[in-house]
Amino acid sequence: MKKNILIGVCAGIASYKTCELVRLLVNDGFSVKVLMTESATKFVSPLVFQTLSTNMVYLDMFAPAKEEGIKHIELTEWADICVVAPLTANTLSKIANGICDNLLTTVICALPATKKIIFAPAMNTNMWNNLIIQDNVAKLKNLKRYIFLNPGRGLLACGDYGEGRMPEPEEIYNKIKTSLK
Ligand SMILES: Cc1cc2nc3c(=O)[nH]c(=O)nc-3n(C[C@H](O)[C@H](O)[C@H](O)COP(=O)(O)O)c2cc1C
Repeated sequence: MKKNILIGVCAGIASYKTCELVRLLVNDGFSVKVLMTESATKFVSPLVFQTLSTNMVYLDMFAPAKEEGIKHIELTEWADICVVAPLTANTLSKIANGICDNLLTTVICALPATKKIIFAPAMNTNMWNNLIIQDNVAKLKNLKRYIFLNPGRGLLACGDYGEGRMPEPEEIYNKIKTSLK
C-alpha cells in the first residue's frame, strides 16, 4: 500500500521546487498532505499545493475543526514520513530549541520517534554558515533523529554563489523512497 507523506513548507524561495516534489510523489501514487508556515504562503499560494496534492493544505493550529477536520496530533498519526522542504534557518532553529509556536513546529515535535523526518534546509550562504545556525544544525544532527539532506553549492536566488541551495526535487523524492524501505 502506498504511504502517506507529510510535507512541511517554510518561507524560503526554494518552496517553488517543493511543488514539483509534490507532483512527483502524487504521480507515483503516494498520498501527500502539505503543511505550510504562515510566512511560506507569501511565496507559494496554498491553492497550488492543494491542487497538486489533491488535499487541503494545513496552516493554522487553531483553525475551527469544521475548516480543518484533523488536529495536529492526527496529522502525526496520518503521516508515515515527514519531510520539511525547504527548511528555513528560522524553523530549523526553532526545532533545535524545542519551540512549538506554529502547526509545523508542533507537528515535528509531536511526531513519534518511529516516524522518519527528512530535513532539506535551504538558505543564503551567509545564513547557512552563520555559527548559530551551524550550531543548531550540529545539535539536530547529534540527536540522530533527523535525516539531513544538506544544501548544495551553486548560484542562489539572491545572486550569491555558495552553499545553501535546496536539493533538487528528484533527490528529495529518492530520499523519501529509500527512507520508507
Ligand atoms: C525573498 C525572500 C527569500 C527568502 N529566502 C529564504 C531562504 O531561502 N531560507 C531562509 O532560511 N530564509 C529565507 N527568507 C527569510 C524567511 O522568509 C524568514 O526568516 C521567515 O521568518 C521564515 O519563516 P518560517 O520559518 O516560519 O517559514 C527569505 C525571505 C525573503 C523575503
